[in-house]
Amino acid sequence: MSAETVLIRVNGREVSVPLGQPLAQVLSAADPAMRLSPRDRAPRGMFCGMGLCFECMVEVDGLRRRSCLTPVSAGMVVRTREGAA
Ligand code: FES
Repeated sequence: MSAETVLIRVNGREVSVPLGQPLAQVLSAADPAMRLSPRDRAPRGMFCGMGLCFECMVEVDGLRRRSCLTPVSAGMVVRTREGAA
């Protein structure tokens, strides 16, 4: 049995991902460094995985979101390396 997949756009590229999976999981599988620190431009990625640290902040449909708390939905447009903590 396989999970339903949907198409989302990540940094301009269309990808097929499991519906409802936490966005942070999907992004981390491709690149653990999902954003750059606004202070020193160091790569940052998921840390706590439960909404406390804000290290997984990305832009989803033009709004900053904690990707570990954001379930994948069809058609979402994601930009990594843009969300500041
Ligand atoms: S990984 Fe800590 S808030 Fe998302």
